[in-house]
Amino acid sequence: MRTRTQVGIVGAGPAGLLLSHLLALRGIDSVLIEIRSREYCEARQRAGVLEHGTVGLLREADLADRLDRLGLEHGGIYLQFDGERRHIDFRELTGRTVTVYAQTEVVKDLIARRLADGGALEFSVTDTEVSGLDTDQPVLRYTDAAGTRHEVACDAIAGCDGYHGICRPAIPSGVLTTWERDYPYAWLGILADVAPSTDELIYAHHRSGFALHSVRSPAVSRLYLQVRPDEDIAAWPDERIWAELAHRFALPDWTLDQGLVADKSITPIRSFVSSPMRYGRLFLAGDAAHIVPPTGAKGLNLAMADVAVLAPALDGLLHGDERLAAAYSATCLERVWRATHFSWWMTTMLHRAPGADEMETQLQLSQLRYVVRSRVAAASLAENYTGYPERPGGRLEPAEPARGAGPHAQPAT
Ligand code: FAD
Ligand code: PHB
Repeated sequence: MRTRTQVGIVGAGPAGLLLSHLLALRGIDSVLIEIRSREYCEARQRAGVLEHGTVGLLREADLADRLDRLGLEHGGIYLQFDGERRHIDFRELTGRTVTVYAQTEVVKDLIARRLADGGALEFSVTDTEVSGLDTDQPVLRYTDAAGTRHEVACDAIAGCDGYHGICRPAIPSGVLTTWERDYPYAWLGILADVAPSTDELIYAHHRSGFALHSVRSPAVSRLYLQVRPDEDIAAWPDERIWAELAHRFALPDWTLDQGLVADKSITPIRSFVSSPMRYGRLFLAGDAAHIVPPTGAKGLNLAMADVAVLAPALDGLLHGDERLAAAYSATCLERVWRATHFSWWMTTMLHRAPGADEMETQLQLSQLRYVVRSRVAAASLAENYTGYPERPGGRLEPAEPARGAGPHAQPAT
């Protein structure tokens, strides 16, 4: 079946879903396709922390009803090391906060809104293909859940299909430069039916490895343990996980409450950046273009920041103004590299590398002491964690505006 849309979007994660909504607000049609079922997308356990600017973006896009009711505003985090648990006060250091609201909830809100607004959203598709990317009419092909093959002529395609998607590999070889780092550890994450034992997230450095106590709601906790990258989840029965968490978070006069483990998984840790984020009329956004280790809580926020830049860029492109589209990749990559550095820094400061010697441990501890004792160092962590630059897609003008052109041009003097 042959159809037409303005923007074909591949992938119904946070990036693809938010993009289709932001485009709809601008009166731009899209077709959004997803290989997984709606139930799978709404249940997939992933990130939990929204930056200050991401919350603002969702509010401006009229998507924050449930977020404002159920999100938990956090004014800081705890860093634990060497028997101390010290608070970094984001509110006092930056005037900003973060909001704990699970990615599953963001995805549920976005899917419900797109369907309520009559958006074209197809789950459980197969055999997605993109072609004609270097022409003005790229084509998106897929087979729907009923077995019908579709061919959609588009003005542009957004590759929001994650790290393992098909859009980035559709770019001819030699166009992209990529940077990649695999870390020698992974995260074992659990979702537990138990009230959090903390009021704010605890990032713990420990000689046995990193641990993180996060939260989902007043009755549900999310906890992570650093494990080996080849770790077998079968080797981690619930009692072993709780014992190891209690060991890594141990402090006098504090106990970790335990509960039923509702979900358990192991995630590899990776940094990856590919540039440029555009080839012809294909624009990559979110994990399709970059991955960060979760220690900085940046992955979801970066995905949303990309599409906050992409929506106005596509609007311009479809109306004959190429400037924002030309600047899309450079504008996003500036934020991406900042988050890539911050996530790498948090990761290497807090994790124990296999075979790490005492010198490395002492360097990590010195850095942690500096961060909690120096106001300047603490403010830097707080500024990055709450989101830098503050507003996703804040710089909406081209990275290098043509001199004398455009709405922001200064009159010649
Ligand atoms: P995704 O959420 O990956 O969405 C891409 C979508 O595209 C998926 O729904 C996929 O099914 C679909 N797709 C793929 N191929 C095709 C195709 N051929 N056709 C159609 N659809 C396709 N970040 C944190 O900050 N903290 C965390 O704790 C954390 N945990 C994570 C755990 C895991 C297992 C993973 C993979 C990521 C985690 N992240 C975490 C990162 C964060 O969740 C991602 O950065 C975020 O999901 C990126 O959103 P996205 O929309 O770009 O990609
Ligand atoms: C989470 O709640 O899943 C979470 C929070 C902070 C992180 C990573 C994951 O740094």
